Amino acid sequence: MPASDLDQVVNLAKRRGFVYPSAEIYGGFRSSYDYGPLGSLMLRNVKDAWVRTMVQQRDDVLLIDAAILGPPQVFEASGHLENFSDPLVDCTVCKRRFREDQLEARDCPQQRKGCAFTESRAFNLMFRTTAGPVEGTGAEVYMRPETAQGMFVNFANVLQTSRKKPPFGIAQVGKSFRNEITPGNFIFRTREFEQMELEFFVPPSESGKWYEYWCGARLAWYRDLGIPADMLRIREHAADELSHYSAGTSDIEFRFPWGWGELEGVAQRTDFDLNRHSQHSGQRLDYFDQATNERYVPYVVEPAAGANRAMAAFLLAAYDEDEVAGERRTVLRLHPRLAPYQVAVLPLSKKDELGGPAREVFRALSSRYMCDYDETQAIGRRYRRQDEIGTPWCVTVDFDTLTDGAVTIRERDTTRQERVPVASLADELARRLGF
Ligand code: GAP
Repeated sequence: MPASDLDQVVNLAKRRGFVYPSAEIYGGFRSSYDYGPLGSLMLRNVKDAWVRTMVQQRDDVLLIDAAILGPPQVFEASGHLENFSDPLVDCTVCKRRFREDQLEARDCPQQRKGCAFTESRAFNLMFRTTAGPVEGTGAEVYMRPETAQGMFVNFANVLQTSRKKPPFGIAQVGKSFRNEITPGNFIFRTREFEQMELEFFVPPSESGKWYEYWCGARLAWYRDLGIPADMLRIREHAADELSHYSAGTSDIEFRFPWGWGELEGVAQRTDFDLNRHSQHSGQRLDYFDQATNERYVPYVVEPAAGANRAMAAFLLAAYDEDEVAGERRTVLRLHPRLAPYQVAVLPLSKKDELGGPAREVFRALSSRYMCDYDETQAIGRRYRRQDEIGTPWCVTVDFDTLTDGAVTIRERDTTRQERVPVASLADELARRLGF
């Protein structure tokens, strides 16, 4: 059973070093999180899995890493300065601020008597700061609210240096920032988060076809990494939900404990961004097709995912509690590619004669996989610890290893154990892990 309650995962995440509230020793920094030793490995695995599928296993997508800070011109052209806002109201009694579109019948969520709201006004979600040594004299700059603009402003650069032709894509993984009014639900909505975005440039007549393609491909990505089909769905946006750049968007949604929520949006951005940047910069941002002798501005289909949100969904879907030998255990049934550690090496005892061979096994495996090494406490407790953090395989080195040159592989999901010669251990694990 996946987690039914967000607290199950939040507590495990804190207890085991996946995610900590940020600046906790100062009382915490609202809705900001730090990724601990296990969480940082898992978040990296989520991003690596995305790059593997979206870049490495394709010959039509190129990866870039653009700047986080940008000049106002970029966001003026993209429309974010004008349009990237939430409608806000202030309560004149309790002095709190709310998103108008999230208030039910304009009732104050504080439930104080006599609460009254101001007229709603647009609140821009971008973080603004200044660049330069002296406060007040520097140039105004913005922290990007999406990674996408990095791909649009580099369209001509990438086209020129890669000599690709549409259909082709530019991908990026990196931090984005939004001054969200109502952050919350753990790492689902924060002000600082990581996106995994692809801008796929296509001939205009092919944009419908590619939109369908990417909706299907992206849904499959979550399923292939272990999210059950009944926890995923695709929902098409109504016209009044569309972003200012979109002619059509479908969200891939996950069944979170509080209801369906967006994991990723697949949008038809048409030629909006390239046209706008071309108009504002005066640079030509189009493609000349030598085969047809035609010049056109490509249309864009954009699958835009959040790495932190995806991690939350993977954790929630993987969470399980069952019984092993009459004892309750918590187990994270994470896909091996996403688990913080693929393998844990466990010498049965701390005695020196086992430490040597166990360290050797660790050295051999850790050049291929992220491995944990744990020699403290009884072996049963160590297995439980690894189950709880999602390690798919434990390798136990015991006293028989010294004579038969074999170790025990224990499988997380079934707890099944099998004896394997050390000489064939790496190949056996590669076969089981599938990589
Ligand atoms: N370039 C298009 C774009 O940014 P979006 O739907 O606003 O589209 C894409 O964002 C994804 O980024 C979302 O589906 C979500 O996974 C993630 N995301 C957006 N805002 C977020 C936030 N405040 N906290 C965490 N993730 C967020």
